[in-house]
Amino acid sequence: MTTLWVLFIFLNFDLLLQTGQCTKTSGQVLSITPNTQEQVEILKNVSTQYQTGLWQPVSPHNIKELTKVHLYVPGNSSETVRNLLQRHNITHEVMLPNADEIIKMQMRNDSGDPRSGSTFYYRYHTLEDIYDWINRTAHDYPDKVKAILVGSSYEKRPLYALKLSLNNRPNKKAMWIDCGIHAREWISPAFCLFFVHYSLSFYNINAEMTQILDNMDFYVLPVMNPDGYKYTWTKNRMWRKNRSPQKGTSCIGVDLNRNFDANWCTTGASPDPCTEIYCGPFPESEPESQAVANFLRSHKESIQIYLSIHSYSQMLIIPYSCTEDEAENHSELYEMVKTAADNIKRYYKNIYTYGAGAQIIYLAPGGSDDWAYNLGIKYSFTFELQDRGKYGFLLPPSDIQGACNEALLAVKTIALKVMEKP
Ligand code: ARG
Ligand code: ZN
Repeated sequence: MTTLWVLFIFLNFDLLLQTGQCTKTSGQVLSITPNTQEQVEILKNVSTQYQTGLWQPVSPHNIKELTKVHLYVPGNSSETVRNLLQRHNITHEVMLPNADEIIKMQMRNDSGDPRSGSTFYYRYHTLEDIYDWINRTAHDYPDKVKAILVGSSYEKRPLYALKLSLNNRPNKKAMWIDCGIHAREWISPAFCLFFVHYSLSFYNINAEMTQILDNMDFYVLPVMNPDGYKYTWTKNRMWRKNRSPQKGTSCIGVDLNRNFDANWCTTGASPDPCTEIYCGPFPESEPESQAVANFLRSHKESIQIYLSIHSYSQMLIIPYSCTEDEAENHSELYEMVKTAADNIKRYYKNIYTYGAGAQIIYLAPGGSDDWAYNLGIKYSFTFELQDRGKYGFLLPPSDIQGACNEALLAVKTIALKVMEKP
């Protein structure tokens, strides 16, 4: 009996420590709405100081009146920041009171942790575990999956794309999917793993997936930014860019989704290496973007569909994001994302916004989707997965399944539509 009590006290003490209640106040995510231009300016300042992290919009330039801002505020500056907002009468509420605890929980949820009950695909994984998974998958399905080395990262980590080819019909069309361009968007690599697993498990079981895989190969790059992803697990959960050092500054990293040659570094990107939307010194300056661009260039005859997976905000985005001009087949693309969003609403009751990036978000040049589109891949998309801001980048593992199923439905919808085309 006494031993039980001792054990009980121990376990609880352990829990307290892990949730950080004995130590310091947790970082928080605030939802802030500036009502005047003056408040916009104050918020721009706050978002670049006090070690805060801007979640939404991606850059302080895009902060505007009457539009919600999501800001991560670390525990030690939370009082200062909230007082400052209060003093200037800036409307704000706490969106996530316990961000740091959520971060810790999600990291504990890795494989090998007996406390995490759910299946492999409904947890987040370290980079090392993802590399193991890539090896295992290629090894377990030698006639269906090949791991292709498409390049390496700045820190010399390999970039493997998995080619799924489920039957050996000749001259099949193909779809490219990349995940994890932005390091902190953890649901994105999780989707790529889920998608590969689903394809291998449901071929000849799910009618639509079978029809798709009978006519189309897939190239899936699970982590396009491995250095950044690693960094989010070890140093800073909110990191977005890659990890390449820049000349003349101590600021690190290029936004890989501003580094492609599509109206490169115009409005919506920044030449300042210290911003989150730094475009890099020149287009394709980064080994990660160059690797993907080279692969797409050399496979553009077969690859008909390009898809890049991001989070968060639940959007199905079509070109262009780099200009306000309409894409040449805009209405065809629009119809596809509309149908996909309608399907998601019908089956999963979740709302996805859809349309051209420059219209539904803001100008964001140098993106992979626009570049692939201009290369001639006329079905080019970016998905922003769950959620709409409740947890943001810290989407709990219990939501992975729902998020992936919705995105899968959109992929199927689009693939089937493209297959109808001559
Ligand atoms: N949130 C994504 C980003 O900032 C949007 C991507 C849309 N496409 C684009 N080319 N900007 O990168
Ligand atoms: Zn992103």
